[in-house]
Amino acid sequence: MKKHIVLLPGDGIGPEVARAAKRVLEAIAEQHQHTFTFETHNIGGSAIDQDGTPLPEDTIEACHKADAVFLGAVGGPKWDDLPGHMRPEKGLLGIRKQLGLFANLRPVKAFQQLLHASPLKTEVVTGSDLLIVRELTGGLYFGEPSERRNNGAEVVDTLAYSRHEIERIVEQAFQSARLRRNHLTSVDKANVLESSRMWREIVEEKKQEYPEVTVEHMLVDAAAMKLVTNPSYFDVIVTENMFGDILSDEASVLTGSLGMLPSASIRKDGLGLYEPVHGSAPDIAGQNKANPLASILSVAMMLKHSFKMEEEAEQVEKAVQDVLAARYHTADLNINGGIPVSGSELANKVIEQLSTSDTTE
Ligand code: NAD
Ligand code: IPM
Ligand code: MN
Repeated sequence: MKKHIVLLPGDGIGPEVARAAKRVLEAIAEQHQHTFTFETHNIGGSAIDQDGTPLPEDTIEACHKADAVFLGAVGGPKWDDLPGHMRPEKGLLGIRKQLGLFANLRPVKAFQQLLHASPLKTEVVTGSDLLIVRELTGGLYFGEPSERRNNGAEVVDTLAYSRHEIERIVEQAFQSARLRRNHLTSVDKANVLESSRMWREIVEEKKQEYPEVTVEHMLVDAAAMKLVTNPSYFDVIVTENMFGDILSDEASVLTGSLGMLPSASIRKDGLGLYEPVHGSAPDIAGQNKANPLASILSVAMMLKHSFKMEEEAEQVEKAVQDVLAARYHTADLNINGGIPVSGSELANKVIEQLSTSDTTE
């Protein structure tokens, strides 16, 4: 199969993890006789430096034409003092919006091999396997007005949703729940926010169409607590943009590291932007310390969601598991008796594992 992939490495550890993602895609292509072509574009801080804007036109155009997009990470201290509309993060928000990627799927699974790597008790983490369906192109991140007023004496951000925006993300969540364990938790702040009250109404309406799915509503503060006290309670969580952002970093603790969490930002027709959940990690950038597994697992999501290559996706996931079982890890993962390696070495191990795995099984 032929596929064209746009790579947006971005800033900090972004280029390091994007390199790992590309190498895994190349290994899969070679093994399965696919033709994957690549095109690299600027986004974020590196785009500000080279093109004077966090989201250059040619980047947007290339993404529109691609079969899938991979993004490393954007941002860093160098650009932190720029005005809001010129920050690297605006590039990421812009490309999600431009491509209409309203659903961000963030699976959180505690790998057997990493149960002890979590600071939480092993008995708490065991069995955790959940999916956060985060609304990605609306809510508090995009509502207007968002501005400083009266010479900085006042400031406003707006949490706004149309009924349509809530309906489509809720539908996505029901569909995801149906493919998993049929349990949906809609997370909101309906005791305070009007937008959450409408969100609840829509979940109640939609559930009539999915009678096999058990649905409940949970307030976001309580959900944050339950995520670390009884994570295996959850199957699919659907929530507003910023709630989903915060809960997913929290949930990464179950896996042992933020460097383990992949994500897919998708729309209805199959185009997706695949991005690790973590950021540009300026504290470790350029030191070959970044854990590439979040990116490699994001590649598995690309193979599955955008290319419908189930077997290849499973092969990548299995290779990650095997490498962890062999106790290789980067410094972010605290594994007793493990074998610490650099980011690129860990990617090598996954690629070696791919080439030894039998695809004819
Ligand atoms: P971060 O996710 O970059 O880092 C948080 C902590 O996790 C750091 O200690 C970092 O070293 C560690 N970490 C993250 N990814 C890792 C990996 N793959 N391997 C090993 N350790 C890893 O969050 P932050 O420090 O709050 O933000 C830094 C910059 O990244 C900010 O500019 C922020 O806006 C940006 N950011 C970008 C994205 C994105 O592009 N998707 C996501 C989050 C944050
Ligand atoms: C993420 C990041 C982004 C977000 C930032 C960098 C805009 O934190 O992808 O989780 O909040 O969506
Ligand atoms: Mn985040």
